[in-house]
Amino acid sequence: MKLLCGITLLLAVAVAYYIYIPLPRAISEPWKLMVLDATFRGVVSMGDVAHSLGLSHRVHVINSAIINFESLVPVTNQEIQAEDILFDGVHVRVYHPPGRKEKLRRAVMFIHGGGWALCAPKLGSYDSLCRQMAADLDAVVVTVDYRMAPDVHFPVQYDECVRAAKHFLRPEVLAQYSVDPERVAVCGDSAGGNLAAAVAQRIGMDNSTSVKFKLQVLIYPVLQALDFNTASYQQNQNVPILYRTLMARFWLEYLDSDLDLVHSIIKNKHTAQDQSLLSLSRSKLNWTNLLPKRVIKHYKPIFPLTGSPKILKDLPALLDARAAPLLAEDEVLHMAPRAYILTGEHDVLRDDGMMYARRLELAGVSVTNDHYEDGFHGCVTFAFWPCYFSVGIRAVQNYIAWLDEHL
Ligand SMILES: *[C@@H]1O[C@H](CO)[C@@H](O)[C@H](O)[C@H]1NC(C)=O
Ligand SMILES: *[C@@H]1O[C@H](CO)[C@@H](O)[C@H](O)[C@H]1NC(C)=O
Repeated sequence: MKLLCGITLLLAVAVAYYIYIPLPRAISEPWKLMVLDATFRGVVSMGDVAHSLGLSHRVHVINSAIINFESLVPVTNQEIQAEDILFDGVHVRVYHPPGRKEKLRRAVMFIHGGGWALCAPKLGSYDSLCRQMAADLDAVVVTVDYRMAPDVHFPVQYDECVRAAKHFLRPEVLAQYSVDPERVAVCGDSAGGNLAAAVAQRIGMDNSTSVKFKLQVLIYPVLQALDFNTASYQQNQNVPILYRTLMARFWLEYLDSDLDLVHSIIKNKHTAQDQSLLSLSRSKLNWTNLLPKRVIKHYKPIFPLTGSPKILKDLPALLDARAAPLLAEDEVLHMAPRAYILTGEHDVLRDDGMMYARRLELAGVSVTNDHYEDGFHGCVTFAFWPCYFSVGIRAVQNYIAWLDEHL
């Protein structure tokens, strides 16, 4: 009996030790986040073990865990009809509110996040989110089920989103769904925010599409991979659930590169001061210049004197604005639609979003930056039963309200 008690106690301590991580004070519902994070860390470790044993790719392991979980989430807003079809060969799901209306409807094209590798747009939280947008806005919502890493890499994810967008924006397609061509937005979260920003830039410049997006909504978007030591990367490198090393791994997987480079790129070895290739790009992500002092706090830029020039040579996509929309030229930004950018204080990607907001503004684009002091990465997908946070619910309500007002 005593032995059993002892073992139970030891196990409980071990579990608590695994779950507990110190979190910033302002974060909403810290214990819930710790449990969520511990679960996610557990799944990532399982993926790593299966991968090293040669059983399955780590990303496939993580994704099947996510899909199993998301399948348990009950379908909400069941009155919204869903139709799975192809847009120019790309899988999409179209959600529409029931009934025909006299007036044309508004529309949102949604691109889901998950590091260009994870998540299922038609299940669970993303399905709930799209249904909520369709219901609250009485709008047609198209979610893009683009193919992901490790099966495909950049630029396939980007190309599929562009193709789906160009197809949807054709006047005859919009007419088929009774959508007002003047009132279409593009929206995405995290890696989906990256793709939404890139698609918005592309459609803005594209002379072959007469219909343009009216708005872009970017939810904690990832926008660059040249500086893994922005103030927010330094401040939040160990804040769940998007640790700095995990974000760096997603980038390397997206660009089809060696994951061992993580150790170099999180030290900015790929963008050391000996790399002349970069002189033009640097000013586009100079956060000491683009961000206000209160955001930067005491953090200082970190660029080693010498680094590994081979990384940029082997991965030219690091300098490609289709992969890293923050690197676009001012003329391109100028053609982009009015923007809403959601950022969270406790997110490594906070400064990606804030720098983009500033650069768009400098290029003459109207921007609303909605910043959540208690926000953490991923909160918008944690707004639905059984896994929800108050900040997630608020963030979803607020961005949909902004769309309702401006779309
Ligand atoms: C669209 O037209 C402008 C001006 O005619 C030109 O500068 C630009 O390169 C064109 N864009 C594309 C994507 O072809
Ligand atoms: C970034 O901006 C600061 C402040 O304007 C400036 O002193 C610095 O030289 C800039 N750095 C780069 C690499 O452009």
